[in-house]
Amino acid sequence: MDTFDLTRLLPADHFSTALRHDVQTGLTSEPKRLPPKWFYDARGSELFEEITRLPEYYPTRAERAILTARAGEIAAVTRARTLVELGSGSSEKTRLLLDALRALGTLETYVPVDVSESALTGAGAAIAAEYPGLGVHGVLADFTTRLGLPPEGGPRLVAFLGGTLGNLLPRERAEFLRGLRAALDPGDFLLLGTDLVKDPEVLVAAYDDSAGVTAEFNRNVLNVLNRELGADFDPTAFEHVALWDAEQEWIEMRLRSLRSQTVKIPALDLPVHFDRDEELRTEVSAKFRRERVAEELLAAGLRMTHWWTDREARFGLSLSAPA
Ligand code: SAH
Ligand code: TRP
Repeated sequence: MDTFDLTRLLPADHFSTALRHDVQTGLTSEPKRLPPKWFYDARGSELFEEITRLPEYYPTRAERAILTARAGEIAAVTRARTLVELGSGSSEKTRLLLDALRALGTLETYVPVDVSESALTGAGAAIAAEYPGLGVHGVLADFTTRLGLPPEGGPRLVAFLGGTLGNLLPRERAEFLRGLRAALDPGDFLLLGTDLVKDPEVLVAAYDDSAGVTAEFNRNVLNVLNRELGADFDPTAFEHVALWDAEQEWIEMRLRSLRSQTVKIPALDLPVHFDRDEELRTEVSAKFRRERVAEELLAAGLRMTHWWTDREARFGLSLSAPA
């Protein structure tokens, strides 16, 4: 029998209380901003999967190439009994790790952790069916507040792929890494995927594809606010903007108001005015260099033991251990 179960660590009122708080704070800030986790309702998770298949979106393919080449080595070094994956989404690339760890014979349990229930149950059930005998324990959690790491089952390998670390702001990132370090025991490892600094044209194209899928993904956050908070955003009144911030070394995603407009958010009793051309920041996606990854890990008490890139050095995958 396939074994897949789901633990919910999100409070039942997550979509009201936490979303309300983030929207109240973010849309009354100057400039306006929203945290990226709200992209990922069922539709958002679907759109992200479409993004990973776009010709312009190289990170998924680059990271998959590294995993294809290195999964055996990662398995041999970590000998993990439990694979935990933060922001697991469709768990598509994860199969490379599962295969390598199963071939080695150490793996017992896979723990995907995600804020998107649809992605989590879809991926978890599929993996449980494909890997007979593997325990698959999904955890519905916001990894910025609860990591959802199982306390047992060491040695544990915690994978954080897709460059998702770069979606946290520098302070959030430092706090996240410190919290993760504190949850790790000797013998555990972190496998971290980080997108690398490169030609801005290549970077911008990855976040502004010609088919408009990323634009739809970006605007989808407004549908989430409409559904969950009764807001009356007209998504077509906002245009998708992706730009490279050379100083911060991150891509910034924004929604630009095409006209002067006031949006109502009844759940907050909050009218939100947008000037024409006013922008709402919906996400940053930081790009890294090897030294910066090593420094940030070390500042959190993690020592990088391995660093791999794809042939074209577009994406970095690192393995680190408690220092
Ligand atoms: N790891 C996959 C998916 C990356 S997209 C890949 O490499 O392709 C980012 C994923 O992280 C999404 O599935 C999203 O739902 C999840 N996510 C984003 N913010 C999160 C948070 N705060 N807590 C938990 N999951 C989060
Ligand atoms: N972790 C992904 C990244 O930073 C998330 C992502 C890809 C994304 N494309 C996006 C987020 C477009 C918002 C909009 O690459």
